[in-house]
Amino acid sequence: MRLTKPVDWVSETKFVVDGLEFRSDLDSYTEQTTPTSVVILKESRLLREYLDFLAAHDIANVFEFGVWQGGSPLFYALATDARKIVAIDHLHKGPRPPEADHDDVLARAYKNPALDEIIEQRGIADRVKLHFSVSQDDRKAVSGIIDHEFGDAALDLVIDDASHYYAHSRTSFETAFPRLREGGLYIIEDWQWAHSPHYQSGGTFEGRPALTNLVFELLVAYGSHPDLFWNMVVRDWFVAVQKGSKPLAGDFKLDDLLRMRGKQLTLI
Ligand SMILES: C[S@@+](CC[C@H](N)C(=O)[O-])C[C@H]1O[C@@H](n2cnc3c(N)ncnc32)[C@H](O)[C@@H]1O
Repeated sequence: MRLTKPVDWVSETKFVVDGLEFRSDLDSYTEQTTPTSVVILKESRLLREYLDFLAAHDIANVFEFGVWQGGSPLFYALATDARKIVAIDHLHKGPRPPEADHDDVLARAYKNPALDEIIEQRGIADRVKLHFSVSQDDRKAVSGIIDHEFGDAALDLVIDDASHYYAHSRTSFETAFPRLREGGLYIIEDWQWAHSPHYQSGGTFEGRPALTNLVFELLVAYGSHPDLFWNMVVRDWFVAVQKGSKPLAGDFKLDDLLRMRGKQLTLI
């Protein structure tokens, strides 16, 4: 994936592509995209790191879990050579009820209508497809969307940036990883949340198993089947595995790939 438009990196929380402002909102999660300013949940440093990493890969078909205010799918569509970006989110597909005009929390539970406006204005409706009211762990719905949007074409890149819950992310991996071409990338963002000072007690992830458990399992699966991945790269805020030659059925189970000498991994 390479840039096709220059990005003006204004600051760590703001950049501009083709006259459209993107601003990151990692602190409050309350800001909303407007027709002139897109909220993205990635700071400029992270995005630049991502672009450096992805630049070595030919990426046409992208599937992403997690839309929020549309920042990442709009950025890939407007600034890069990706051919088609399909993303899903469990936010309500709407339309927003009238009460949402006076209730920000309610408004943010729905698809933001500004996304369609931007997609229309920028003429990218054939390249960006956003699906709402779909949970990342709904294998049937997610597979159906991939079938519908990509037909028989394989995916080049899957990004999981949705709930970051272990069980959800594991199911998403089982659903979408087999759809990648050999050499295609599966990226799990924010795998490290359980080790950040911020989440040591309380907060969104209280009582949830760490996403790190999935990373452990992918490592064991790779050790068990060297043809499962070409490689596995762990960075401070994402893990990327590159699909190997091992054939996988659409309904494969990660558990079936783990050779553990009869022992069990303990969830942390
Ligand atoms: C980190 S945000 C995505 C940010 C976006 N990719 C970006 O970079 O701007 C995570 C999104 O995942 C969605 N989400 C949370 N749980 C989900 C689930 N079970 N299925 C689908 N989406 C989910 C949330 O509604 C939220 O919009």
